[in-house]
Amino acid sequence: MSHKLDVLISAEEIQQRLDELAEEIKKDYEGKELTLICILKGGVMFLVDLARRLPPDSIELDFMDVSSYGDEFKSSGVIKVDKDLKNPITNKHVLLVEDIIDTGRTLSYLQKHLISQKPASLKFCTLLDKPERRVVKDIIPDYIGFTIPDKFVLGYGLDYLQKYRGLPYIGVMMQE
Ligand code: IMP
Ligand code: MG
Repeated sequence: MSHKLDVLISAEEIQQRLDELAEEIKKDYEGKELTLICILKGGVMFLVDLARRLPPDSIELDFMDVSSYGDEFKSSGVIKVDKDLKNPITNKHVLLVEDIIDTGRTLSYLQKHLISQKPASLKFCTLLDKPERRVVKDIIPDYIGFTIPDKFVLGYGLDYLQKYRGLPYIGVMMQE
């Protein structure tokens, strides 16, 4: 199978939207300390570019890695924690940073997992949202970079078979 990539969201559009999101987040968390939790591996580019735009003296970073059993295009909903948080989040303001919300199953699982640790607050920030694909209907992200149609996308952290994460833009793969 050969693949052709189309640009869905350019590098410039991503960086511009990040400026706006960072302003919103700064305003919402003014005077508070905030822990950004990156969901590996897809969220890593987004986390780095976002964190660079927020006040360094009030931001902590932590990382989680989860996997869901499924094929290369979809998650199955069976989620396994491969790497848990390093530091406790009890009484902390937490913002989860995700690459994409698709069915919402990963986020639904993470919400339960994190809430059980009693953070002061828990919000979700996703670069991409594919609302048409939502299975868990009550998963509503607090910050959304871009709402996209039901297409398989890659780049800027998102992979296809572990590759393409380093692209500075979001691409769509056309199967031919
Ligand atoms: P959910 O549990 O179905 O919401 O899936 C979330 C995870 O599935 C994301 O964190 C991605 O790792 C993966 N995923 C969903 N859609 C795409 C896509 O279009 N490209 C790459 N990965 C995707
Ligand atoms: Mg992911």
